[in-house]
Amino acid sequence: MSSSLPVRRFDAIVVGAGGSGMRAALELARANLKVAVLTKVFPTRSHTVAAQGGIAAPLANSTEDNWHWHMYDTVKGSDYLGDQDAIEYMCRRANEVVIELEHMGMPFDRLENGKIYQRPFGGHTQDYGSAKMAMRACAVADRTGHAMLHTLYQQNVRANTQFFVEWMALDLIRDPQDGAVIGVTALEMETGEVALFQGKATLFATGGAGRIYAASTNAFVNTGDGLGMAARAGIPLQDMEFYQFHPTGVYGAGVLITEGVRGEGGYLLNKDGERFMERYAPNAKDLASRDVVSRAMTTEIKEGRGCGPEADHVMLKLDHLGPEVINQRLPGIREIAIKFANADPIREPIPVVPTVHYQMGGIPANYMGQVVVPEAASQEAIVQAFYAAGECSCVSVHGANRLGTNSLLDLLVFGKSSGEQMIKDIRALPRPQRNLPKGAGDASRARLARLDSASAGERVAEVGADLRKAMQAHCGVFRFPDELVKGVEKIKEIAARAQRTHIQDKSKVFNTARIEALELDNLVESAMSTVVSAQARKESRGAQARADFPERDDANWLKHTLWYKEGNRLAYKPVHLKPLTVETFEPKVRTY
Ligand code: FUM
Repeated sequence: MSSSLPVRRFDAIVVGAGGSGMRAALELARANLKVAVLTKVFPTRSHTVAAQGGIAAPLANSTEDNWHWHMYDTVKGSDYLGDQDAIEYMCRRANEVVIELEHMGMPFDRLENGKIYQRPFGGHTQDYGSAKMAMRACAVADRTGHAMLHTLYQQNVRANTQFFVEWMALDLIRDPQDGAVIGVTALEMETGEVALFQGKATLFATGGAGRIYAASTNAFVNTGDGLGMAARAGIPLQDMEFYQFHPTGVYGAGVLITEGVRGEGGYLLNKDGERFMERYAPNAKDLASRDVVSRAMTTEIKEGRGCGPEADHVMLKLDHLGPEVINQRLPGIREIAIKFANADPIREPIPVVPTVHYQMGGIPANYMGQVVVPEAASQEAIVQAFYAAGECSCVSVHGANRLGTNSLLDLLVFGKSSGEQMIKDIRALPRPQRNLPKGAGDASRARLARLDSASAGERVAEVGADLRKAMQAHCGVFRFPDELVKGVEKIKEIAARAQRTHIQDKSKVFNTARIEALELDNLVESAMSTVVSAQARKESRGAQARADFPERDDANWLKHTLWYKEGNRLAYKPVHLKPLTVETFEPKVRTY
């Protein structure tokens, strides 16, 4: 296929306009670089908008706090799989990026003294895991992500970032000589036309793939596009087995009920009205880390102590907080509960179940956002001109389990550090710019041509629904050996079916059927990497709870997984146990 696609040239290409993409773009645009941000949805509708409870920073506005304690909690929360250099980096920059956001105009809730309001959140403690919780989550009521996206968008408009709204990136373009990334192909939804976006540096900030599960708090756009593009371009995906189930998704609807509810004093009850978390986590109780709470809830349900006619959920009680706290601090939650659970939390509890929320794995990157791949045993090479930040990346600060509010922090810290690194790298480049390789864009055009020419085949919606069902059934909160084996086989079959899909509507203008078919390819790569990695990891750690291997096994499994699309194969690499300036937090038994 000859390449006659239109080419658009920029200094930097950012794919994704959530928190990390917009934070990086802001850094780049303020440095007077020409930045293109490609996004499937209007920037302020990116999934970051759904983040509710807060952003972590040890500002110590209400309780004593410091970055060492935050770092300890994050390492422990990660079940020791997090890279300690990256975790130190994130925790040390937390106050800076939050204050910066405040100065950009973020409308944080305030204390009487005018300082930013902070609430407790799961797993965030004082004094290296003591029973005293730290008030570390800086909040805008229960709409923190919403406020953050709007703040970042306004700043980007001011800095002249160029947004390409309703453009879907399709494939990565790499230089066949040295693998450097030169840009992406992308499809404009309004016209159906495809163009090449060429940049001196390309950042993926495409978010997670939470839509590989049937019950998810994630937006419909979270189809793992960055993961699919990276995997098809030969880049491995790291630690994909670790999918976080948020304890409190609305039963039946999946919509998120913020952990901030428990931060404000809400708690979970089983059918006997028992506050069961006291048995599982005597100190932190309902504010234990999410993997611990989700497993406890699932155990209560499995052992017959669930609520409702099917005994398949538990209750989140918050009426004791009173209307004033609920209306002031949790207004969005009240609205969600009324709309989706038909329960007004001022008077009655909300029915909740653990629901897929966050992907700890992703494209392997260091804490400057540079994508890294293994070179020799125990060494990593940088993929030139390619960066990843936010949920699509695995830096890895969250390891096997993320603490609530560390996600918005990750977006800001690594969005900013990626932008800083891209500026440095772009300024150091020799001129002229690299040429586009011959045949750039052919892979995307072949994918589109298949869809346009297929006159029969399976419906995309059916294949997608089967994928989500399979992931839900075979790779859930608890993982069983036989189910995992079956799950791998099912996803392989679904991957083959995804190659035989057919869309009836061949028109070009706003053809959402075509978009969904293209997204399905990315869902398949994301699901395959998840279930294959989960099946292989023979231990329980963080979000990976194996029924047949209930203990963590540091001797054999204190290592990161790498999944390669080619050959559907796995490799492993060491965890960075050495922080930047402090002593290593040695793995120990994790209790809350
Ligand atoms: O519960 C929540 O508000 C979610 C926060 C997070 O995932 O960080």
